[in-house]
Amino acid sequence: MSTQFKRVITYGTFDLLHYGHINLLRRARELGDYLVVALSTDEFNLQKGKKCYFSYEERKQLVEAVRYVDLVIPEQTWEQKATDVHELGISTFVMGDDWKGEFDFLREEGVEVVYLPRTPEISTTQIKTDLGLDRDAQQASE
Ligand code: CTP
Repeated sequence: MSTQFKRVITYGTFDLLHYGHINLLRRARELGDYLVVALSTDEFNLQKGKKCYFSYEERKQLVEAVRYVDLVIPEQTWEQKATDVHELGISTFVMGDDWKGEFDFLREEGVEVVYLPRTPEISTTQIKTDLGLDRDAQQASE
């Protein structure tokens, strides 16, 4: 593989794909030549206490359709990151800055770790709340 060819990876759930996600994916892709998205599976989301509106396959179709994304792989465990970066020849690991500091340990694997500022005032949780889809919030208010 050419050392000039820079592969970037990011991880996330990307449920109810919104413009904050698109901004993140565009800026991540601009940091290299090839963008991999490790998309949290439904099982992994359950472990994280997250329930998605769209299934993994539905979210995968949406993320694959984004022009900045070259490859979507499943994210099934917290621990897979170190293996992924080596297997996929990743040079840059990107997350939104809500995760700032959490993945600095990947620098020991020889990977650049970048936290991008989140797009303000939009999140999947906010959309669910605004549309009354957030069952946890609804139950709490009943
Ligand atoms: N992200 C972002 N700006 C936003 C929302 C998300 O840059 N306004 C980034 C996150 O920082 C993360 C990626 O998009 O790197 C995927 O985030 P995800 O947690 O799937 O989206 P959220 O909208 O934050 O969802 P939730 O409300 O469920 O946390």
